[in-house]
Amino acid sequence: MVETNLRFLRTLLIAVSFFVAFASALGSKPIISTSKPKGALPLFENGNVVASIHVDSNDYPGVVRAAHDLSVDFGHVTGHNMSLYTTQSDAHSLSQRTSIIIGTIGKSKLVDSLVLSKKIDVSKIKGKWESFQTQLVQNPAPGVSQALVIVGSDKRGSIFGIYEVSEQIGVSPWYYWADVAPRKHSSLYALNTKLVRGEPSIKYRGIFLNDEAPALAGWINANFPRGKYGPGFNHEFYSRVFELLLRLKANFLWPAMWDSMFGVDDPKNQETADFYGIVMSTSHTEPLQMSTKEWNTLGNGTWDYTTNSANIDKYWERGVSRAKNFENMWTVGMRGNGDNILSGTVVTELLQKVVSDQRKILSDVLGVRDVSKVPQVWCLYKDIQAYYEHGMRVPDDITLLWTDDNWGNVRRLPLANETNPAGMYYHFDFVGDPRDYKWINTVSLQKTWEQLHLTYERNARNIWVVNVGDLKPLELPIDYYLNLAYDYDTWGGIDKVIEYEKAWATREFGEDVAKEVADIVETYGFYAARRRYELVDPKTYNIINYNEAELVLEQWKNLTSRAEAVYAKLPAERKPAFFEMVLHPTKAAYIVYDIHVSSAKNNLYAYQRRSSANALAEHVLERFQDDHDLTQEYNTMLGGKWSHMMDQTHLGYNYWQQPMRNTLPPLAWTQLLENSLSGTMGVAVESSNGSVPGDDHFNSAEYNNNTLVLPQLDPYAPVQYRTIEIFARGTKAFDFKVSPHNPWVRVSPSSGHVDPRNPATDVKVKVSVDWNKAPAGHNVAFINITSSENYGNFDMPSVNLPIHKPSIPPSFHGFVESNKLVSIEASHASRKTKNGNVQYETLRNLGRTGDALTLFPVTCDKQNTASGPRLEYDLFLHTAPTYGANITVYLGAALNNNGPDRPLKYAISFDDAPPQEIQFIPDLDSPLAMPKGWDQAVSDGNVWKSVTQHKVGAVGKKILKLWALEPSVVFQKVVIDLGGVKDSYLGPPESVRL
Ligand SMILES: *[C@@H]1O[C@H](CO)[C@@H](O)[C@H](O)[C@H]1NC(C)=O
Ligand SMILES: *[C@@H]1O[C@H](CO)[C@@H](O)[C@H](O)[C@H]1NC(C)=O
Repeated sequence: MVETNLRFLRTLLIAVSFFVAFASALGSKPIISTSKPKGALPLFENGNVVASIHVDSNDYPGVVRAAHDLSVDFGHVTGHNMSLYTTQSDAHSLSQRTSIIIGTIGKSKLVDSLVLSKKIDVSKIKGKWESFQTQLVQNPAPGVSQALVIVGSDKRGSIFGIYEVSEQIGVSPWYYWADVAPRKHSSLYALNTKLVRGEPSIKYRGIFLNDEAPALAGWINANFPRGKYGPGFNHEFYSRVFELLLRLKANFLWPAMWDSMFGVDDPKNQETADFYGIVMSTSHTEPLQMSTKEWNTLGNGTWDYTTNSANIDKYWERGVSRAKNFENMWTVGMRGNGDNILSGTVVTELLQKVVSDQRKILSDVLGVRDVSKVPQVWCLYKDIQAYYEHGMRVPDDITLLWTDDNWGNVRRLPLANETNPAGMYYHFDFVGDPRDYKWINTVSLQKTWEQLHLTYERNARNIWVVNVGDLKPLELPIDYYLNLAYDYDTWGGIDKVIEYEKAWATREFGEDVAKEVADIVETYGFYAARRRYELVDPKTYNIINYNEAELVLEQWKNLTSRAEAVYAKLPAERKPAFFEMVLHPTKAAYIVYDIHVSSAKNNLYAYQRRSSANALAEHVLERFQDDHDLTQEYNTMLGGKWSHMMDQTHLGYNYWQQPMRNTLPPLAWTQLLENSLSGTMGVAVESSNGSVPGDDHFNSAEYNNNTLVLPQLDPYAPVQYRTIEIFARGTKAFDFKVSPHNPWVRVSPSSGHVDPRNPATDVKVKVSVDWNKAPAGHNVAFINITSSENYGNFDMPSVNLPIHKPSIPPSFHGFVESNKLVSIEASHASRKTKNGNVQYETLRNLGRTGDALTLFPVTCDKQNTASGPRLEYDLFLHTAPTYGANITVYLGAALNNNGPDRPLKYAISFDDAPPQEIQFIPDLDSPLAMPKGWDQAVSDGNVWKSVTQHKVGAVGKKILKLWALEPSVVFQKVVIDLGGVKDSYLGPPESVRL
């Protein structure tokens, strides 16, 4: 026993120390070390180059190019580039020092001879798509005693093998695009180990640059010389993108198209993509490698296939013949011009004819007899999905590219009888209804995982493409997405997101800060996804109920402080990357939240005639300046490397489209120069806009009623105090006293001084109750507030606090009602049941305010309330309204992704009543529409709020039961309203659990 434990410990220690010595690469085992374990091959030793690279000049030009990158990457890491020898020969001409041999099977004489002489076994990768292996080989050639041999099954296989080594020696794929500083090493060794990386999980994986103005377009125009034909989306720019994609082991691109023509802007673009090894395609709305802008500038006639098919066909023929020598994924089908709907009605036959004509063009121009061997994709974006659902026929070989709803919720996935190859077009950035989100990162990786896990498990694995807007600043989501697509086995499991975040943070910023950085970016995604920044305004978070707005602002403030603390600790060379990927978004979000929350408070304070409204207005103006300064900091950092990249406006949306300038919400000021009619002291309470003296038409119709009422307090309230605020109205300072009548009421502070010249001295008085002394049942406490100054014509202000001290049997365990509501995090069930292997799993940070629950496996059958997995929540109620309770279930969800027979449903039962089955996402009113309520759901951070009515019966113990009747139903939160729920964005805070 003892010995086993020691051995285990020793193994653990060795594992840990090895981990430190090895450079990091995401998701693969180490093949490079900075110290010299037994059998390792020196590449660099004590600052000296002791190796060189050999690649056959007959190998793919793209492989030779990547080998050149590797030689330069060694330079980044060690200070000396490694020599690269490109020869067209076999072993005999190898330099003595050659220690890295790179070659594609069938393209490298040396590699082929090693296979032939059985010095390497390539059976695991031969003939496979994009696979590679690396290993040490003894005496690979005369005079060479040992070499690291990198073998690719094909062109990209070799390239990925090369970049695997780059990453492991310490060059991040993001060294250029996010300024991740290469690690510095004086010694590097290749370990005596064999690494085999087989076929990627998703065959075609890549990004879509979209809506590229103002940020990316501005940056390009400032940094890349304008091409002969217009904007600077030229091959020099694209080379940077291709290289990034290959370093991330991706292979696919939809180029920028909002105001760009990939094939025309620079005639070298297409051949450069092919040279690098990127499979080019065109977006969902641009068939056959022709861009929308090309038609708009060069097309003849209207974009209408019913009247102008001859011209459109000719135009498509040009696209096919222009791209025919390169590696393509041909987009087929048709949408309306400018990415609009094709027609107001379902035009299935027309689309089928379009695709059949396109296939004829492909087969004619490419000169292939079997067009089904030509890779083609048909994207079922928006209305096109409706045509498909209405029977549009698609040839078997075409990849059906399913889509999300532009907001990260999968709309539909293949059914068992839909056997075309399938894929997913997903969004991290969007321009359109109900609002753009295109400023900074708003992506929750947990949500991304949940939706892409579903996508993968439901067999949409041929193409994954994600809309990434301007590329920056979405580095982290892009990195995650492409890692998941490349290596689903490593990253696809539940709870792997945080592991990925740690690995990412280790690679980019170092082991020492990785855990903290991972937690910061995880928390960031959780907060950011609650509502896209473009949709946040002063009304979003409630400023009077549940202290919601202030708590949310506090969260952003704390997160920013944590990011700033890491930034301060990092060595100078790692700061820029950290600023771009972690600190900037956190700080920028905090500023925007501060602007909205403080504007809301400013308006409320002016409404309450507070002097401090004015200082808040000043504060908002300062934060507006901070927002600008932070934008400038980004745009001017590193000598202006990212100029214009942060040009996106984000404050002052009036409708879905971006504001032309950043604009503050309306601010209000209180006149302080005249006497206040009610004296100098004002009083307000939580959950009320009103203030006294006067000005309280909410609490009372009486103009000079001076009593405010606090929300009821009981021993089970999640927050054990209520808040009174005391503030100045005017310019005069004063002293105040807060005097409760009842001995069991405590106030803190009970007296103080308010100085209107200093807004920080608006005073919050916490009112709490000594429950040991308070009387049982319902009572009201009275509190008087007096000032050293007069009250004008008004009486002394007073505050009432209703209290309730119920009795609960000591044996009860579960959630307790407070103030006519019970609020529950769905993940905090009292009990869960299973149905065979079908059960609930916890989805971290996927709830509204915590974790969420969903059914696993996501491929399971429809469930029912008799045998399906059930969640039970024990509750104790003191209120039993005769009209019953409204129960709101907060659900995160893909849309009804499983065909017409299986819309998403849950069931709910309260207190042993028969379960109610609820389809919470309605069927479509029209085939071209989104489901009713969708705008609200996506605006509210992808949450559907479903309300059911229930009888309550007597007070006491109750059980609430929930069933997810379909996979991909995600339970976030449950709120039982017995008449006490107040407005808020995130819902009431969770009830007390005994
Ligand atoms: C445009 O199309 C019309 C027929 O629709 C044809 O007569 C004309 O020659 C075309 N023009 C060009 C420039 O190809
Ligand atoms: C495929 O299955 C779904 C769900 O069972 C059904 O509604 C649909 O009609 C089927 N489609 C075909 C082409 O058989």
